[in-house]
Amino acid sequence: MKMTPMAPKCGVEISGIQLATCSDEEMEAVKQAIYEHGVAVFRDQEFSPEDHIRFGKRWGGIDINNYFPLQQDFQEIAVVKKEADQKTNIGGDWHTDHSYDQIPAMGSVLVARELPPSGGDTMWAHMGAAYDALSDEVKAEIEGLEAFHTADHIYKADGLYAQTDMGRELRGHDLKTGAVHPVVIRHPHTGRKLLYVNKAFTINFVGKTREESMPLLEKLFAAALTDDNQCRLEWKPGTVAIWDNRTTWHNAVNDYQGHRREMHRITLSGEALAA
Ligand code: SIN
Repeated sequence: MKMTPMAPKCGVEISGIQLATCSDEEMEAVKQAIYEHGVAVFRDQEFSPEDHIRFGKRWGGIDINNYFPLQQDFQEIAVVKKEADQKTNIGGDWHTDHSYDQIPAMGSVLVARELPPSGGDTMWAHMGAAYDALSDEVKAEIEGLEAFHTADHIYKADGLYAQTDMGRELRGHDLKTGAVHPVVIRHPHTGRKLLYVNKAFTINFVGKTREESMPLLEKLFAAALTDDNQCRLEWKPGTVAIWDNRTTWHNAVNDYQGHRREMHRITLSGEALAA
């Protein structure tokens, strides 16, 4: 197994392994690499839907997504697709999956099933590198803060997606979500400090209104995205990416209008987060 960084501070490409048949030792090395680098990319994988589900269960469990359409024959698999005639894609801005859950999903295993002729890349940004780069003043300002996260404004019946041509595809309009997490968490396995707020789902700091929270939130959102803490994946048939939601933000680039893209996603169960 060979590991090649995708960028200095985010992402690793792992070759010489088939995820469907890897040994326990290889699985453990893959986990550690993802905890550290935030995302790992695997090329030329033979990875059927059955392999995908088996791998998710082997990792430690699957959280079924409440909003995306599910694969008809494999309900553990969420379908992240954009038809050729749709303009909006799923996940087309920076976010962290499931931060609105009390115990957010650990990460995702995303498999390319149908790709546009070009474009449709996915980007990640490393929240350990983002935290490290904050000034001492900002680190002191956010020490001990907690923030409230929800997805209701995005998925409810008149939410952000409902106002787009993606609205008809999604489920879970009546769900109510909400969770409070520390603004700086420690990675449950590496202990590294990570900035844990995101543009899509973080609404306010506990004890402050949205309006009062926005100046500092905007400052953190801007600090989270520097050119040197990001990596970018150009998908090819047979590519699988696995990322850690605690360690990264991601963004599905929507630059392939007029073409179809279909990805299959399994969301991996996580553990409680702590400062
Ligand atoms: C997502 O999980 O947010 C979508 C990622 C992608 O489609 O590249």
